[in-house]
Amino acid sequence: MKAQSLYKIPSTIADNALVTDAQYKKMYQESIINPNGFWREHGKRIDWIKPYSQIKKTSFDAHNLYIKWFYDGTLNASANCLDRHLQHDEHKLAIIWEGDDANKQRNLTYSQLHQQVCQFANALLSQGVRRGNVVTIYMPMIPETIVAMLACARIGAIHSVIFGGFSPDSIAARIIDGASKVVITADEGVRAGRTIPLKNNVDEALAHPDVQCVEKVIVMKHTAGPINWVNDRDIWWESLITTASKHCPFEEMAAEDPLFLLYTSGSTGSPKGVLHTTGGYMVYAAMTHEYVFDYKKDDIYWCTADVGWITGHSYMVYGPLANGATILMHEGVPNYPSPSRLGEMIDRHKVTTLYTAPTLIRSIMAEGKDKFSHFDGCSLRILGSVGEPINPEAWRWYHEVIGKQACPIVDTWWQTETGGILITPLPGATETKPGSATRPFFGVQPAIVDNQGTLLEGKSEGNLVILDSWPGQMRTIYGDHDRFILTYFKTFNGMYCTGDGAKRDEDGYYWITGRVDDVINVAGHRLGTAEIESALVAHPHVAEAAVVGYPHDIKGQGIYAYVTLNTGVKEDEPLMQELIRWVRKEIGSIASPDLIQWAPDLPKTRSGKIMRRFLRKIAANEITQLGDASTLADPSVIDALIVTRLNK
Ligand code: WTA
Repeated sequence: MKAQSLYKIPSTIADNALVTDAQYKKMYQESIINPNGFWREHGKRIDWIKPYSQIKKTSFDAHNLYIKWFYDGTLNASANCLDRHLQHDEHKLAIIWEGDDANKQRNLTYSQLHQQVCQFANALLSQGVRRGNVVTIYMPMIPETIVAMLACARIGAIHSVIFGGFSPDSIAARIIDGASKVVITADEGVRAGRTIPLKNNVDEALAHPDVQCVEKVIVMKHTAGPINWVNDRDIWWESLITTASKHCPFEEMAAEDPLFLLYTSGSTGSPKGVLHTTGGYMVYAAMTHEYVFDYKKDDIYWCTADVGWITGHSYMVYGPLANGATILMHEGVPNYPSPSRLGEMIDRHKVTTLYTAPTLIRSIMAEGKDKFSHFDGCSLRILGSVGEPINPEAWRWYHEVIGKQACPIVDTWWQTETGGILITPLPGATETKPGSATRPFFGVQPAIVDNQGTLLEGKSEGNLVILDSWPGQMRTIYGDHDRFILTYFKTFNGMYCTGDGAKRDEDGYYWITGRVDDVINVAGHRLGTAEIESALVAHPHVAEAAVVGYPHDIKGQGIYAYVTLNTGVKEDEPLMQELIRWVRKEIGSIASPDLIQWAPDLPKTRSGKIMRRFLRKIAANEITQLGDASTLADPSVIDALIVTRLNK
């Protein structure tokens, strides 16, 4: 690994930081040596109805797995995000909202948000939603989405938020898996000047013959665009809350009661419903938000993630609101109508903390620095990155053009499954190296193992695992605990397998190298290649398909599909376009292949297993470094694929 430049902590940050390097080292050590004592103290940052006396009860042994935190305590997540701020901060802004059209602005104080959540919680109760029920939320980036999530949490219902970019088929699969009786949506969403037919997508999903569970669809009027209406099933949000009481006591939930489900892609099978529980998740989300972003009371905190992803859950909703922060929520994309939108929004709202994804940085970087010539940026203190490895070039651009060389960058590594950030710099404690997620957060024990599961010491490269539990960890895959154990704890028994590769350098800093399984990361969106392959194979003309990621300048990874057609079907451009539309319909626009290559045959072993490593190399145009092809049943397949690739 070549020597990397170290970025020092700016003195303006170091002087007021919550944690210095010495404190980090002391606290980290304590968190590992005495986890019960450490978390007993830090669990107190959350308001408990009945305080816990038990702290950590966890085992990563695949034959005897259990994960429980603060497990005799009771609490309510919505009360932690709202009620506890009312005494001192009722007039403080909780949400500053800006629409896709920048002329649309709304602000909500903590007391207004509290009132709306209480009313909507009563509305849900009036529709028969009860503690433990799963409620599906398919909404745009508007404050009502947060209201809906917190209203579920208030009455003990489990929310399952679906990203607005998913198709009716994907919505249907998630609704069926969660057996959801109620769906909350809006007429339409708006993104980069285009409307997204949310209600129509829900209608189509519910027309699926296997969706039998849904009784009510609650519709928020957002754009007032045209929609269909199903009497007796559809209800306007507005009409429900006008009669709803503004008082709604919160349910007393056990620490290990479920808070939400969030579906994410794995390397095999359909997306899994990652289940997070209440106590440990809230402690971990709030604590990481405070320390990682060096949170100060007057911060204006902007996380650009969609609420439909885990980043939106932990670092737009639960973490910041538990800490009483003011968040900026934006409906559109930060590079529309022009790349300067990001800078304009930072200046307009005096944003202090920006948390975004490398793909956005690369896309605005491609437009040139001059788009930021009017950008002031003096309000900014901390910059964050999440979702995929950030290439050093983008890191430096972020540091220089957005951060004016005065803001530390926290490159935060974590996953839907981990609930919160696991490896990250702390602004006042960690000198940074562009491209490195640096050091573990408190209580987190990362390690690197080889493919046999042997722990590698010192400077090394291999599979990233975590050796012991942390409070924000997922507890199960909804309805499939065996799959949970198999996916995360069987590969290397006794360790949580992340599915990522990593290097550790001479300073003990971690560098995430990307997925080691068949998951790809496209513009920070996580997709299983198996899902895209099944979508392609479901097309009547497709015999077989193999999907791999390939390097993409803006998205990090693009989707490259090798498709074998049924005998007699013509390989032509219109069919290629049709297949792209088909995948979009089956999964959603985020899964559209960037490139399709016709493959009369796929490279397979004698036992019929597709050798993806060749397909990855060919897609990446690394044709001179293919490696040993002798295990292939028919090595000439490779030559044919190379010729077609070169002609593309
Ligand atoms: C990748 C998003 C490098 C990684 C929070 C992980 C990253 C997957 C980083 C999880 C980072 C996330 N550096 N890679 N800072 N953050 N990843 O579940 O491959 O959508 O396993 O959670 O994103 O994606 P997910």
